This record gives sequence, C-alpha cells and structure tokens, in this order.
Amino acid sequence: MIKVKVPGTSANIGPGFDALGLALNIYNSFIFEEIDKGLEISGCNKAFANKNNLVYKSMLRIFDKIGYSPKGIRIDMSTDIPISRGLGSSASCILGGVIGANHLAGEHLSKEEILELATEIEGHPDNIAPALFGGFVVSVMENKRVIYNNIHIPKGIKFIALIPDFTLSTKEARAVLPSTISYKDAIYNVGRVSLLLSALSNGRFDLLKYAVNDTLHEQYRGKLIPDYFNIVNKCREAGCLGVFLSGAGPTLMTIIDNNDNKFKDKINEFIDDTWDIREFEL
Ligand code: HSE
Repeated sequence: MIKVKVPGTSANIGPGFDALGLALNIYNSFIFEEIDKGLEISGCNKAFANKNNLVYKSMLRIFDKIGYSPKGIRIDMSTDIPISRGLGSSASCILGGVIGANHLAGEHLSKEEILELATEIEGHPDNIAPALFGGFVVSVMENKRVIYNNIHIPKGIKFIALIPDFTLSTKEARAVLPSTISYKDAIYNVGRVSLLLSALSNGRFDLLKYAVNDTLHEQYRGKLIPDYFNIVNKCREAGCLGVFLSGAGPTLMTIIDNNDNKFKDKINEFIDDTWDIREFEL
C-alpha cells in the first residue's frame, strides 16, 4: 500500500505556453493497494469510479510498460483540486497513478522516467513537472525527453485564483487555438517569457504587469469564458501585479504583492459569489 499526495498546478503563467508551471498548495491524495481481484475505486464521484478513471488508466500504462500484472487494484482518492478549471487536476491524477503503479510494481522507474511517462499521458509537461518537483518549473520537450529547470522566486508575492463554477476542458480550450501564429506574436511571447523569467528570478515584480502578457492562447480562449476580458481589466485596476489564464482556463490567476490586503475586497466588488476566490502562497 502507498499513499501519494500530488499538488495542483498553474501552467503557462501567461506567455509560457506548454513550458512554464507552478505547483500550488492544493492537493489530491491517493491510497493505492494491490487486492486479490477486481477494481475498487472510492472517494470520487460514482461516474469516475470505473475502468475509465484517469488514475487507473495511468496505472495500466505503467504496469504495461514494466510488465507487471496486479491481481486487483484498490484506489482511494481524496481530491481538493477542482476538475477542469485549469488547476492541474488531470496532471495530478496521472502523476498519482504513475507513482502508485510504479510502487506496486516494485519501484522500477526513476524519477526522470516517471516524469516522461506522465508527460506522455498528459501530452505536455508544464503541469506534470511542477507537480512532481514542486515550485516554479520550466519544462520543454526534446524528442521524448523532458528537459526542465526549477526557478527560485524570491519572497514578496502570492497568487490569488478566481475559480468560476463552470468547467472548460483542455481539449476544448486547445481546439480553439490557431494552427499557425504570426512572427509578430511569436516575438511578442519570446520577449515576455524572457522578461517573466528574469523578473521572477531577481524579484523585479514591478515588471510582471508587462511580463505575463500573452498572444498565443489567451485571446482565443478568453472568448470561451463569459466576461473574461472585462474581469482581466478589473483585476488590473484592482492593483494586481499580473493576471493570466491558469493553464487552459477557465480559472484566472492573479499575482499580488504580499502586502496588498485590499485586492480580495476589490475583486469581490465585480465578481459574484459563484466564483471561488482562493489564495496560494509560494
Ligand atoms: N499548457 C496547457 C494548455 C495546460 O494551455 O493547453 C493545460 O493543461
């Protein structure tokens, strides 16, 4: 038996599409056990307690890879990360399943292999890498390898998420993206990612308002979220250091100065109580 706790994540951080991600202090926990036969899944909505469960399907990929056939599997889930909100719930389930299966099969996989297999299942590394290593992680694909690096962010900022009560699947949010982009937009994002990494590295948080801006996905995905562009502007007016779509959305993530105690009150003036406001420490 093994207990695995995996954090949620916020991916992209504005311009770093499919490459930047941050682990959040919100978690899914899983207990995995090999049993005599069958599949038992508890702790989740009944609709997910079957063979199509993402945690279980991720386990099967690992058993297949290692060549291990468990007699039966029990998964007990305790989930705090909201589903399909752009907070890394899928990555957390995939990584939980991969780590759990690797343990039950006898720990054959290295941490690098866990990263690569979980990334293969998810399709991109920017949620998986921070969920596995913690903190703020840059991750890119080099063929099937994931090349990654942690960035230490100095103290001074926190993150406040505006989480709506509706869901948006990553599949749907990727489907609205164009298949090609202009040189102008590519240059815009290269510059912003560079500025973002330098600003986060040396604590120039005053630069974040320029650095988290994006042209590759937010302008397209924003149209899927009612009132998105208006709420972004209101967040800026309310004094956040930066605002971006968390992962594929629909959650909006804001970066706040640690000493700003008024932001939460200000956003409550323009969003209603269908939104969950959640604060994350670095
Ligand atoms: N980088 C991914 C995207 C994160 O924006 O589609 C969502 O899983």
